[in-house]
Amino acid sequence: MKHSIARFFLHFHPKKVRAEAIRFDRTFGLGGIAALLFVVLFITGMMLRFAYIPSAGEAHDSIVNLQQEVLFGSLLRNLHYWSAMSLVVVAFLHLVRVFYSQSIFEERRKNWIYGLVLLFLVLSANFTGYLLPWDQLSYWAVTIMTNMLTYIPFVGNGLADIIRGGDVVNENTLLRFYHFHTGLMPFLMIFFLSVHFWLVRKSGGVALPAGTDKKMTDVNPHLVYKEIIVALILLLAIFLFSVFVDAPLLEKAKPLVSPNPSRAPWYFMGFQELLMHIHPTFGAFIIPLLVLIFFISIPFLKFTEIKKGVWFYSSKGKQLTILSAVSSVIYTFAFVVLSDTVLDLSNRLSGWPSIISTGLLSSLIYFIPVALFILYLKRNKQACRMEIIIAIVTFILAAYITMMLTGSLLRGEGMQLIFLI
Ligand code: HEM
Repeated sequence: MKHSIARFFLHFHPKKVRAEAIRFDRTFGLGGIAALLFVVLFITGMMLRFAYIPSAGEAHDSIVNLQQEVLFGSLLRNLHYWSAMSLVVVAFLHLVRVFYSQSIFEERRKNWIYGLVLLFLVLSANFTGYLLPWDQLSYWAVTIMTNMLTYIPFVGNGLADIIRGGDVVNENTLLRFYHFHTGLMPFLMIFFLSVHFWLVRKSGGVALPAGTDKKMTDVNPHLVYKEIIVALILLLAIFLFSVFVDAPLLEKAKPLVSPNPSRAPWYFMGFQELLMHIHPTFGAFIIPLLVLIFFISIPFLKFTEIKKGVWFYSSKGKQLTILSAVSSVIYTFAFVVLSDTVLDLSNRLSGWPSIISTGLLSSLIYFIPVALFILYLKRNKQACRMEIIIAIVTFILAAYITMMLTGSLLRGEGMQLIFLI
């Protein structure tokens, strides 16, 4: 029995791998950590189903009951909640790792796309679970997010109505989210994860730079022991965190009384912040769509040279990553503050159609300097195409994180910047 369990787990790996591939700093174990978090979520989620009642009248009480009356109920909920939040962070870091270590080209292209689908599923699973406690936090976060969908031209209203099961978040939404969260999402994730793991093996494991030592090593024990150690540390960390820090639960949802400020879930706060400066047709539709198309297309672009497994492509690539990240944080934050104060286009140009003033104009004000910055990297720094792509991705990621942190931490009542109140 012991042996058959061990053999089952060894199916995830070949018998031997390149010794260089199992160095911790190649992957930081992020894919494996994400996989383990998914397992923790699956098991704790199954257990939570025994206590949870998916109806607007009883959902909140069932969570309170779980926390107060069920032995280790709070711990169970905390484990599920903190694992879910960690998975968002870890999946994002894993994306960052595979991108910067140039592990998304040629035979790994498909896995980049499957990875993007997985990220979408991780966020959707997280978001659909967010509503289930039916408290003020979750109710209004989902209201904000589903309202954002209505800004997608032509299909937005219909899409939002389908997701909510009506024109506001209500009992139908809760039931839909419950079935998505506990049925469809886990099923889709298992499917896409299986394909993802299979493609990792099919493409020869972790990408390594050309000329790396070809020495092979036994997976068992060399890789298996490392994996066990990482898994035990992770489980211990999540367990201890869940013992000491409770998952948030506010009072039961009041559909007529919105909290001030009402916020989207933290990982979508970047969009909420963006919509405060740029018209929703641009902020909630055109810009995210262009970014998505750009991300999907990266491994399909033509490059003169691909350096699989080489972090940041070159030492110049590394320099430009730092320059781009720092510029993006400073510039994006300055844009946010100026847009709230000096620019204030919605009031200044109140006679203009908003799609022109806060839409086109605001977007141009943000993006023209960004385009000039990219031109500067090309002309003055003689960056090659791959280095430019790395700089653009860095700029986008850093801008989103800056918006997310500003919206989450620096805005108070009425979504005013706290240092300007
Ligand atoms: C629940 C989410 C995910 C899980 C559990 C997961 C798991 C894994 C694992 C175990 C590996 C093997 C190497 C490693 O540990 O890094 C891997 C490789 C890979 N993943 Fe993911 N992944 C997830 C999400 C993503 C996302 C969001 C992306 C990017 C959009 C992505 C793209 C890739 C690529 C391109 C590889 C091949 C990298 C290489 O060969 O070096 N994955 N993934």
